[in-house]
Amino acid sequence: GRVAVLMGGTSAEREVSLDSGRNVLEALRARGIDAQPVDGIPALIEALGAGRFDRVFNILHGNKGGGEDGTLQGLLEALKVPYTGSGVLGSALAMDKIRTKQVWLSLGLSTPRYVRLAKGANVHDAARELGLPVIVKPSSEGSSVGVSRVFNDADLDAAVELAARYPGELLMEQLIVGGEYTVGILGDVALPTIRIVPAGEYYDYHAKYLAEDTQYLCPGLEDAAAERAMQALALAAFRAAGCTGWGRVDVMRDKAGNNYLLEVNTAPGMTSHSLVPKAARQVGIDFEDLCWRVLETSLE
Ligand code: DAL
Ligand code: MG
Repeated sequence: GRVAVLMGGTSAEREVSLDSGRNVLEALRARGIDAQPVDGIPALIEALGAGRFDRVFNILHGNKGGGEDGTLQGLLEALKVPYTGSGVLGSALAMDKIRTKQVWLSLGLSTPRYVRLAKGANVHDAARELGLPVIVKPSSEGSSVGVSRVFNDADLDAAVELAARYPGELLMEQLIVGGEYTVGILGDVALPTIRIVPAGEYYDYHAKYLAEDTQYLCPGLEDAAAERAMQALALAAFRAAGCTGWGRVDVMRDKAGNNYLLEVNTAPGMTSHSLVPKAARQVGIDFEDLCWRVLETSLE
């Protein structure tokens, strides 16, 4: 049957999604699959109504417009149209960093200490409670959109103002000083970890998609036992959040070797700079293969 490669949409990550989607489309077509691009959920609804597709490869990123947050998944469940990746619960939970952390904490899975910033909350008290430095971020965004690292009390208000430009709640989190890692999940296995070494100070939007000097080490941990432990933690975190199919778990590791879960991405980037494709390549899965395997996650 025909596959809709759902991309674009209206979130802050629209451009990233278009980039991911074009790559996926090309890879599926190279494998002989009849795939067509669809930009956003309204266009998908129209196309499904006209009977043009019988399967969806979802590569919408972000929350606004409902691509990665369970809204789309609920629609497709109701229509009985198979789709890639996590279902309603996993998508909705993973898009909400605060509630994902609450689930992890309830299971004893380690995540940085945090404060939910309610409207009108005293951000200076919150920062004092956590201890500077902290990270301020929207609870439901991706690609580091709206994220600030704050080292001085005087910079807190600007950080909150920036994060508040995006929909949903705000979160202040203890900044873990150490290494930034990510673990791709494909089916039932964790791929090798990747250690991200940005040339500048942070792995921000620029370092993610524009810079050519960000370094990626894969596997990320030289010590085999430490590598396996991070993979196991990521897989446990993914499952705890109700996620299935494929995704990517972001992890910080402090200088003492303690791991801290940051978040799960249920429709991770598939751009030329993105991480799941790099980790898959490390175990001999090329980009076309990867897209094929992700498509298989839509098979009931
Ligand atoms: N949110 C971006 C697309 C990622 O996680 O790769
Ligand atoms: Mg994310």
